[in-house]
Amino acid sequence: MVVSFKGCYTVKPAEATWKGPLPLSEWDQIGTLTHVPTIYFYRLAPNWLSPADTISNILRDSLSRALVPFYPLAGRVRSIGRGRLELDCNAEGALFFEAESEAKLDNIDHFSPSPEYHYLVPTIDYSVPIHELPLVLAQLTRFKCGGISLSIMISHTVVDGPSALHFISEWATLSRGEPLGTAPFLDRKLLRAGDPPTAPPCLDNSEYSYPPVLLGQSDNVEEEKKKNTVAMLKLSKTQVEKLKNMANDDKSSDSCRDYTRYETLAGHVWRCACKARQQKDEQPTALAVCMDSRNRTNPPLPRAYFGNATLDVFATSHAGELMSKPLGYASSKIRQAIDKVTDTYVKSAIEFLKNQEDLTRFQELHALGGTEGPFCGNPNLAVVSWLTLPIYGLDFGWGKEIYMGPGAHDFDGDALLLQSPDGDGSLILALCLQVAHMDAFKRHFYEDII
Ligand code: COA
Repeated sequence: MVVSFKGCYTVKPAEATWKGPLPLSEWDQIGTLTHVPTIYFYRLAPNWLSPADTISNILRDSLSRALVPFYPLAGRVRSIGRGRLELDCNAEGALFFEAESEAKLDNIDHFSPSPEYHYLVPTIDYSVPIHELPLVLAQLTRFKCGGISLSIMISHTVVDGPSALHFISEWATLSRGEPLGTAPFLDRKLLRAGDPPTAPPCLDNSEYSYPPVLLGQSDNVEEEKKKNTVAMLKLSKTQVEKLKNMANDDKSSDSCRDYTRYETLAGHVWRCACKARQQKDEQPTALAVCMDSRNRTNPPLPRAYFGNATLDVFATSHAGELMSKPLGYASSKIRQAIDKVTDTYVKSAIEFLKNQEDLTRFQELHALGGTEGPFCGNPNLAVVSWLTLPIYGLDFGWGKEIYMGPGAHDFDGDALLLQSPDGDGSLILALCLQVAHMDAFKRHFYEDII
């Protein structure tokens, strides 16, 4: 797809905002430090088709107003040594690009987070020092048919999915001319390690060791070189129910509550990936679950807590057991990992991180071209649930999107689970796997539903 760039603007907060260093929580500083992309496509009614600048002006104006209450997103992250980062609230602003494409929305017949999308999403040069990178980047692309796309990239160092969507949805609210709905809760002290500590440092360091590598290999270097591909795989409501029945029929104990859609589907994806990757029975494998801790602390965090309140936990097993045992076994392993995350777990994990001399080894640096950090590719997976995130119905004033999706995501083993926009109970798995494994994965994914 040919996309030509027409403009680039720095969008600063519309009013003076608080300036100074804002400490980040331990969780902000580990895991993914890159920006997470989402993309929305709109068809426009005739009254929105001219004049050409109207939409761009509305978006930039409302973004600048949104950056007042959400002023941390107008700042920059900087390194303070020992793998630690802090947020400099300096109102340097977000970056907004305008682009045009000869393509028509109708010709983009299958929206998937494929490399084709790269031109619709701002490119970020991660070789630039981190303190020079904007935390929010957006790109408005106009298509020949009059439709538009809006891609939004937000730094995962500063916010997780729920907070990013809070910001995006308030930006849309202001763009529609309505008042701010819910102000963000900006005090990150609630998730900073206490002094004195509120819980002993986590004794189970296994959470913070790297997931396994392929048998016979000592690192992931060879796996990382392999070519990946992306697929959007839909499951109808009936297929989801069949899988849930399969998982719950095989439940190891009758007394445990039924496995959820996430536990079922993540278990199914794990088994299918082991089969598609033709893993040896004795191959250790891990599945990363991204968990929102907002409701797992006591008391729960404020609903509008703005930052990273998500953490990754690993379900672990061996490929042979996953493939030979019924689906309920994989789901039980995932349930075990999720159930570990209690208030004490959250607090002791934070203390554990605070006591680390250097946080670099907990940071996912693969996306930055590095080889450090946990690798969730072959023989592992990361299945992130977007099932409960309010991703659809984003109206900036010209109606709801016709399509929303994750922007490009291109790491082996990276999977997102979304509700289908059809609202009929069907679900979508957005999955990136090595090219060599995708066809077999798709076959198992659909054929193993009985
Ligand atoms: N809307 C509708 N149903 C909801 C709901 C909501 N907001 N919240 C919970 N439920 C219901 C669902 O019916 C679900 O069962 P079902 O899927 O079988 O129908 C049940 O409650 C359990 O949901 P949940 O507590 O979310 O457990 P889960 O097994 O579906 O998911 C986690 C487990 C760990 C993935 C989930 O608890 C979590 O933390 N999600 C956050 C993910 C996140 O933040 N993603 C962005 C990362 S940046």
